[in-house]
Amino acid sequence: MIVNEFIPKPYKQLLERGAAAYSAPSNIALVKYWGKKAHQIPANPSISFTLDNCKTTTSLKFEKKTSEGFSFEVFLEGVLEEDFKPKIEQFFNRIEVYLPFLRTYHFVIETSNTFPHSSGIASSASGMSALALCLMQVEQQLNPDMSKEFFNKKASFLARLGSGSACRSIEGNLVVWGTHANIEGSSDLLGIKYPYEVHQNFTNYHDTILLVDKGEKQVSSTVGHNLMHNHPFAEQRFAQAHSNLDALISVLKSGDLSTFIRIVESEALTLHAMMMSSDPYFILMKPNTLEIINKIWAFRAQTGLHICFTLDAGANVHVLFPEAEAKEIQEFIKTELAVHCQNGHFIEDKLGQGAQPIKN
Ligand code: DP6
Repeated sequence: MIVNEFIPKPYKQLLERGAAAYSAPSNIALVKYWGKKAHQIPANPSISFTLDNCKTTTSLKFEKKTSEGFSFEVFLEGVLEEDFKPKIEQFFNRIEVYLPFLRTYHFVIETSNTFPHSSGIASSASGMSALALCLMQVEQQLNPDMSKEFFNKKASFLARLGSGSACRSIEGNLVVWGTHANIEGSSDLLGIKYPYEVHQNFTNYHDTILLVDKGEKQVSSTVGHNLMHNHPFAEQRFAQAHSNLDALISVLKSGDLSTFIRIVESEALTLHAMMMSSDPYFILMKPNTLEIINKIWAFRAQTGLHICFTLDAGANVHVLFPEAEAKEIQEFIKTELAVHCQNGHFIEDKLGQGAQPIKN
């Protein structure tokens, strides 16, 4: 599947060498992407909050080479990372047609995360979007007339080909990916900024990430997505994602936090229900994930505060809450929930504005 819009005209000039650098945030889905078709096309639309503190910073140096094929080295926190190579090689293969300079240069890629690599926080969204943005910055140097709008669109399009959720990590602070009948401009090919009115209840919305299990996931997202093929509940699930996103449009406008909570928690549990009912089945939640969920429910019932949770493909819990209730909820997290985290570790984050170029 080739998308002509993103194939560049022959470059006017090719530089001998140069550099690029970007930081890109992680994101947390409210309506989940789980299941995909060929060419990284999502089985259903999703929407996410762009985060602020959890991000990847990547810098890239490039220099003309004479050898054939792709040539690159990747360093994570200054250490050569052979393990990242296959994923990047696959990414380069998928995007080569859109970035013909990929075979012209040798790349030195240096990357670091603000969150610990072993935290169980998915680094593929921020990592792949930061890399896609660096590559777009190279293209911009070869084709300086590019508009900011096109730059972001193509960056999201490329990031998707690295990791689906990465296409939602270019812009802030609510991003939709996947075609939805009632969201104008939505596309299976890239993430767009949520185009409608958002109530002030969602301004500065918080996401505190409770690190329940910092280990490697037993089942990768890619394997999990594939298990949605022939899944007995797949069609109902994909239809549900469409209707949940539809319902969110009015919730985001009205600021109705109770309905927001109902949709977001149901999405999280449905995601894990899909894992538990696939063949083979698996469970990524841990006992502490459930301890935390139960405590959140009890605290909400007792206080009436609008605290809720969501999960991604792992045991960690994302605790979501509005700015107006932040003080009390943060206190509750420290005193009641942190004990269920590995080494008491959690990360306070909130809505962010999207990726940023790094000067020099
Ligand atoms: C559970 O984007 O990591 O976080 O496209 O195979 O790289 P690939 O998968 P990935 O899947 C993330 C799934 C999720 C839900 C979501 O972010 O929407």
